[in-house]
Amino acid sequence: MKFRTTDQVRKMFLDFFKEKGHAIIPSASLIPENDPTVLFTTAGMHPLVPYLMGETHPMGTRLVDSQKCLRTGDIDEVGDATHGTFFEMLGNWSLGDYFKEESIAWSYELLTKPEWFGIDPKRIYATFFEGDADAPRDEESINIWQSQFMVHGINAVVGMAGKDEPTKSEEGYRLFAYPKNKNWWGPAGQTGPCGPDTEIFYDTGKEHDPKFGPICHPNCDCGRFVEIWNNVFMQYNKQDNGSFVPLAQRNVDTGMGLERMTAVIQQVGTIYDTDTYARVFEAIDAIFDVKYGVDSGIDRSLRIIVDHLRASTFIIGDPRGVTPSNIGQGYIVRRLIRRAVREAKRIGIHTDITTPISQKIIEIYENTYPELQHNAQKILQEVKKEEEKFLVTLEKGLKEFEHIYEKSGSITGELAFVLYSTYGFPIELTEELVTEKGGQVDRHVFEQEFKKHQELSRTASAGTFKGGLQDHSEETTRLHTATHLLHQALRMVLGDHVAQKGSNITADRLRFDFTHPQKMTDEEKQKVEEIVNQAIQKDLAIQSEELTVPEAKDAGAIGLFEDKYGDKVKVYTVLDPNESRGFFSKEICGGPHVEKTGKMGHFRIKKEEAVSAGVRRIKAILEQ
Ligand code: ALA
Repeated sequence: MKFRTTDQVRKMFLDFFKEKGHAIIPSASLIPENDPTVLFTTAGMHPLVPYLMGETHPMGTRLVDSQKCLRTGDIDEVGDATHGTFFEMLGNWSLGDYFKEESIAWSYELLTKPEWFGIDPKRIYATFFEGDADAPRDEESINIWQSQFMVHGINAVVGMAGKDEPTKSEEGYRLFAYPKNKNWWGPAGQTGPCGPDTEIFYDTGKEHDPKFGPICHPNCDCGRFVEIWNNVFMQYNKQDNGSFVPLAQRNVDTGMGLERMTAVIQQVGTIYDTDTYARVFEAIDAIFDVKYGVDSGIDRSLRIIVDHLRASTFIIGDPRGVTPSNIGQGYIVRRLIRRAVREAKRIGIHTDITTPISQKIIEIYENTYPELQHNAQKILQEVKKEEEKFLVTLEKGLKEFEHIYEKSGSITGELAFVLYSTYGFPIELTEELVTEKGGQVDRHVFEQEFKKHQELSRTASAGTFKGGLQDHSEETTRLHTATHLLHQALRMVLGDHVAQKGSNITADRLRFDFTHPQKMTDEEKQKVEEIVNQAIQKDLAIQSEELTVPEAKDAGAIGLFEDKYGDKVKVYTVLDPNESRGFFSKEICGGPHVEKTGKMGHFRIKKEEAVSAGVRRIKAILEQ
């Protein structure tokens, strides 16, 4: 296996699938639009859901990308060998095009061919779905894997996890069956496209640790096997009544963690020992004289600092970037920055840790993610501002913490909330301080206090980060179309400076953030409502087409022009023959939308408020 840098691994993946007829598409935003189920994009398939559900993609039926992802469910484990928050997910997709045969064969080729990743095939193991009452055992995947391994004369024997002994390599167990909880991907408890998957593991050759059970197998968690790729075969649609019906359009959805794959190729034990991290650690050493790789306690802090600041840099620098605040995504950035600052203090770095590290991260990633360069100033300002804010209250807060602790011998949920509201202590920080003293905070009571005091908008608790398919119910589709009508109406009433800054739709309401310097008057709101309702009454038809970005711009489309490969984008037009342009609104958007506006109901603005300087927010509903 030849050494490759992170940038080379990413490029090889994209190039390989380009050779196999895939269009390289840019990463979508890290902050999902119109999906109330998650705060951040958690998998490469997430922004592609409409196309997996059957919408046509402007770039065709074979796609490949490197998608910015963030998972905060394991935030407390960051710093050990395998956990991180931000990561890049490499993925290739077939939208009703090729299926298992090509998918597995290409995975095998990319992983093992010396001119590509060049992994020794003997180190590769795969898992597959064992079958149950809903769907049969995935014999197809077994057969394809076996013929692939045969290319290298390897007889891939099928084992049952927990029953056989893969460490007895002379017996050749290489393919392992697991139930749905391991080898099935799809909406947990929800309806929609789903199917069996085959996960690919790399055998590090480490000794099996019997603490994890007598038998070592790919999902054993002892650290010997590292999952490097997941190929999902979406061939079923889960119905409302819980049954699984074969899908007309069968898709392939794969995901490979770039950082993990790179760690394997670079033959280092953890993602934190890859070239990208090394570059940031070197910068830290040069500026602060703190070395990585000398003391494991310091290493853990350094890993947390770099992981958290990398995530913050990408969140703030996203085209739909979010800044630190007390709700939703903003709270996550706040928590990430504050924890990084605290870890820095722990290892003796007392000031100005955020700016130089964010700067280094921008420098490392700006070629791949140009938005970081465009938003560099904003990123650096925001991290610095948050660091300064936190430092001011941290000292006071720590004193208060000690004081309270001495007096009462514990920190109740109520007191944890006081530390949060008065000193800006994230609950996790208080928990950490209390744990150091051998105590525990009642998280439940804290959250009750929190809810009492503010809108708890999908907080940081792990449970809310499951990820999943967007809710494509009729209500959300209608509200999505209403968002386009609202956007246009706002431009007509307030002016062309109105640009979308964010959108979020639940089954009951839409929320739309846009640029406008002042509060809207009652007359303006009324006028906007009238325009939207007229567009609904006219029962206008909606058409979608696929255009290049310049074509879309020329045609008068508005929306986020994020694409960077000269790709095609999807444009939705609400046609209106009475308008001089022939349409009421034209926007770049992934869909879906209603076919005609007529049956959407009555549009009403419930609230208009400020989000930040120069950005307003409207919450609106459709009354039936
Ligand atoms: N969607 C699959 C995953 O995230 C590929 O693992």
